[in-house]
Amino acid sequence: MTSLQELLLSRIKDVPDYPKPGIVFKDITPLLADSAAFTALTDAFAEICLRQGATKVVGLEARGFILAAPVAVRAGVGFVPVRKAGKLPGATLGQTYALEYGRAEVEIQANALTADDRVLMIDDVLATGGTAEASLELIRRAGAQVTGLAVLMELGFLDGRAKAEAALSGAPLEALVTV
Ligand code: PRP
Ligand code: MG
Repeated sequence: MTSLQELLLSRIKDVPDYPKPGIVFKDITPLLADSAAFTALTDAFAEICLRQGATKVVGLEARGFILAAPVAVRAGVGFVPVRKAGKLPGATLGQTYALEYGRAEVEIQANALTADDRVLMIDDVLATGGTAEASLELIRRAGAQVTGLAVLMELGFLDGRAKAEAALSGAPLEALVTV
């Protein structure tokens, strides 16, 4: 394990039985509150962004916003939000995806990206991969190329990687830590 991984894991707190009995919630708020850890995380994501030659960072509401916005600033590229449905003005593209119970929808502004854009998508957690799959589809429908998906944490036991990699069609999935 690298020193970055040790630092990140030391600032992610397991919360048993939240939000429901039997679920162990991964709380990233201690990491966000620690300037050294949040800076190290931002630098690691920004390095991926620069290496991939991305022209935009897309962050996923809500926790993905917190992580992705400083990466865009650090890497010197623009930030584009993928939001939960009904929050973005103007023409939007929407994509529904399955939740454990029911369905959810995410949206992007139809003119947020161009065919010249190369997009790094960032989120905090890859769990089942449903959120990532729907959001990657939106980026493609918006006309941009996806350079990769970067997440702080991959929940290895849920195999979201298979779904995400299928949606990435060859672009890399970079998980800074796997739990
Ligand atoms: C959480 C997490 C990821 C997503 C991963 O978001 O932040 O975005 O679930 O799950 P999946 O791989 O199974 O789709 P959630 O919408 O629950 O909460 P948030 O608004 O706090 O980000
Ligand atoms: Mg989320």
